[in-house]
Amino acid sequence: MDYKDLRVDGSRLQSTLQEMAKIGATPGGGVQRLALTDEDKQARDLFVRWLKDLHLEVTIDEMGSIFGKRKGKNNSLPPVMSGSHMDSQPRGGRFDGILGVMGSLEVLRTMHENRIETERPVMIVDWTNEEGSRFAPPMVASGVWAGALDRDWVYNRTDLSGKRFADELQRIGYKGTVRAQNWPTHAYYEYHIEQGPIMEREGKIIGAPEGIVCIHWCDIYLEGEANQVGPTPMEGRHDALCAAAEMILKVNELPAKMGGNMVATVGEIENYPNSRNVIPDKVHFTVDIRSWDDDLALRAWEDVRKDFEEIAQRRGCPIEIQETWRVEHSPFEEKLVQRVLDTAQELGYPSLPMISGAGHDASYMNLVAPTAMIFVPSIGGRSHVEVENTCWEDCEAGANVLLHCILKSANET
Ligand code: GLV
Ligand code: MN
Ligand code: MN
Repeated sequence: MDYKDLRVDGSRLQSTLQEMAKIGATPGGGVQRLALTDEDKQARDLFVRWLKDLHLEVTIDEMGSIFGKRKGKNNSLPPVMSGSHMDSQPRGGRFDGILGVMGSLEVLRTMHENRIETERPVMIVDWTNEEGSRFAPPMVASGVWAGALDRDWVYNRTDLSGKRFADELQRIGYKGTVRAQNWPTHAYYEYHIEQGPIMEREGKIIGAPEGIVCIHWCDIYLEGEANQVGPTPMEGRHDALCAAAEMILKVNELPAKMGGNMVATVGEIENYPNSRNVIPDKVHFTVDIRSWDDDLALRAWEDVRKDFEEIAQRRGCPIEIQETWRVEHSPFEEKLVQRVLDTAQELGYPSLPMISGAGHDASYMNLVAPTAMIFVPSIGGRSHVEVENTCWEDCEAGANVLLHCILKSANET
């Protein structure tokens, strides 16, 4: 059968995304749907209902990832998978992650109503806790599924209030019984917003990442000496927050110092006792370093670690450094990247190859299956914020590219 003229229903995709955006809606127009919260559960319940409406075979694994399988003509062939995540950042946007899951759902709805049969099964997936903002690190469910992370290590991760990942997964009713372990997969597609400014600047509608940068996450714990701020002279203080301040600037200077294509960020900090008239005696902050070049990122980390140790020593603030998580850069399967570009061209959408500076479950999927991503522009290059936005026409365009990429892969024998 010739599917050339087949297209998704853009207005249905829009209303599906708008329905999801009500769950955890924030006053500034974004969403807050942190992993394993009540809002996450609400989104999952709705998603599962929609999967069942399509008569998909729904399974939930021990990491809480949700899979929906649409049968093919030959179910012994490895499936084509497509999906992303439904959790968000705190005061995050309405598109990050959810577009890839709802875009895949729209593809399956289109296939369902057009009674399309494919050679291979097609599976949709929602990966648990991609963001890693409540439970660090990110991408844990795809990481366990791909065999790169240990399930029990992830189960024991805690949020800031000390709640365990596994307990929260159980509490929301999504600790499934199916083992989180990869099965042979013919191709994995992840449809996502760009989260940066390049496509808008270049006037392109479809981006085809050639891969994802490496990401290094570290946690820094500093000890100082608390005291009354008034009577305590400036000399001889052990102010943990001042030590952190110096360190944070070292992180900020790192990319310019190292050269190459790198970004480095301190995004989270806790200061204790956090009182304006007590010298801080405990600080925790995070470090995020990213580059396409794994060695450069490692060298940068070693460089800044030496700076941290020198600052801690000079200020008399003992330091503990935890290397929390690291993922190497992931070059995607060239054939699939080219398929995204070719499909965009066939459908008449201007496209460009690029690199993803954001992390995605596709990083881990790339370890076990031929993988590619489809990007659509982020208005103003803004993401992980409430004003994150992508126009509906572009959302539809990306879903059309996803539809045709899935059909091509699913009909390969
Ligand atoms: C994922 O959201 C990331 O931090 O890039
Ligand atoms: Mn995302
Ligand atoms: Mn994100």
